[in-house]
Amino acid sequence: MMTSDQKKNKNLFRAVDNQMSNKWCLSPIWLVDTSLDAVFNQQLFKELLKFYKDIDQGITAKCDLVHYDASSFNHLKDLILSSVGEAVAEFENMSPPASPSELPFEMCSAWITIMPPGENYLMHTHPNAILTGTYYISTPPNSGDIAFIDTQEIALDPVSGTAKIIRIPPKEGNLVFFPAYLMHEVQTNNSNEGRISITFDLKLKDSNLKETDKNVARTIVDNYERFVAKTQ
Ligand SMILES: [Fe+2]
Repeated sequence: MMTSDQKKNKNLFRAVDNQMSNKWCLSPIWLVDTSLDAVFNQQLFKELLKFYKDIDQGITAKCDLVHYDASSFNHLKDLILSSVGEAVAEFENMSPPASPSELPFEMCSAWITIMPPGENYLMHTHPNAILTGTYYISTPPNSGDIAFIDTQEIALDPVSGTAKIIRIPPKEGNLVFFPAYLMHEVQTNNSNEGRISITFDLKLKDSNLKETDKNVARTIVDNYERFVAKTQ
């Protein structure tokens, strides 16, 4: 669970509005200061690099980082899930879950990003997830803000509403959470060092991807055979 200090540091970038239309279009973005320090981050990075080196060298089988069992990473995962629990409770006006197992979300993917100087990441979303977050391990000054395009105002007022850019500078030890569908980019790393972060996606539990139905598969194969294969 988060301490009271951590709670104080959590804030939505936009206040929750009680009007239903605004709540449905809220696109919440929020920050959590974990108070995890540079020593923790160094240990975490060491663990994560081992994960990638072991796969690179064929020592371990390929798998998603989310399944990696290492002490610092496990601690961070617990903190992420308790932070999400607090946010869900606040947003839905209910009690926070007693443990991560009661959360409606589960982490479905995670990966480390080392963004070299001069690089940026173009606008994108994260498909097949509900909620996305990033934890900052090493962020030299001017190493690139995360920026979101927020179209809430257009949804509420199509005539005079405008899209807004919300920029959040990265800070070591901070977590930023946002809906996975929200368009975002990482701006250019104008420092002389790598910008290191972990990004993760969460999905609703029991919302596995839909299996391809036999009838759907038959239709596609049939359409291929009737309309595509004969023209080749
Ligand atoms: Fe992203």
